[in-house]
Amino acid sequence: KRVVVFISGGGSNMVSLADACAEPGFPAEIVAVISDKPTAGGLAKAEARGIRTFVFERKAYAGKVEHEAAILSALADINPDIICLAGYMRLISGDFIRPYEGRILNIHPSLLPLFPGLHTHQRAIDAGMKIAGCTVHFVTEGMDEGPIVAQAAVPVISNDTADTLAGRVLTVEHKLYPMALKLLSEGKVRMEGGRAVSAQAT
Ligand code: GRF
Repeated sequence: KRVVVFISGGGSNMVSLADACAEPGFPAEIVAVISDKPTAGGLAKAEARGIRTFVFERKAYAGKVEHEAAILSALADINPDIICLAGYMRLISGDFIRPYEGRILNIHPSLLPLFPGLHTHQRAIDAGMKIAGCTVHFVTEGMDEGPIVAQAAVPVISNDTADTLAGRVLTVEHKLYPMALKLLSEGKVRMEGGRAVSAQAT
């Protein structure tokens, strides 16, 4: 399957996906990385792996509609099967999602539906949570709301700060996202009736 990864930052999840895709027999390849930030550290990491990169800065366009239209037109040329949002810090619209419905994944560093949105680690600590984790889900219009494909949990340790917890969660993100991409690429999970449905084992 042809995969495009969207990033806004360091791109460590993109790297974990690219490394998994480089393994023999992995059912997907990263054909492009798209960033909304020219300064995203992940761009150089993608280029070092020989992956094409594109930057679409929001401020270069009159509005959200024009920005998304430019990205959609690049995607039409790239023709991906799957889009992976990996630290892409923009909410994408229903019109953008529609042509790729059920084919867009996102990773969020909390056990959704708990703590969607920003500052998720601090909010988990403030709530006194004893476990934290990450979620890969299908992307729908609501932020961090789509059907859950996979989750992984880690302990919250006393004296954790948002940073120490984020680091522990990130290490499991790097395992979970490639696993979820493999499931979708092999058709072992699909979005149906607002749920993530696992294919019957045969
Ligand atoms: C990750 O924690 C991801 O789940 C979140 O933003 C962070 C991005 O990290 N939404 P990176 O750019 O993949 O290193």
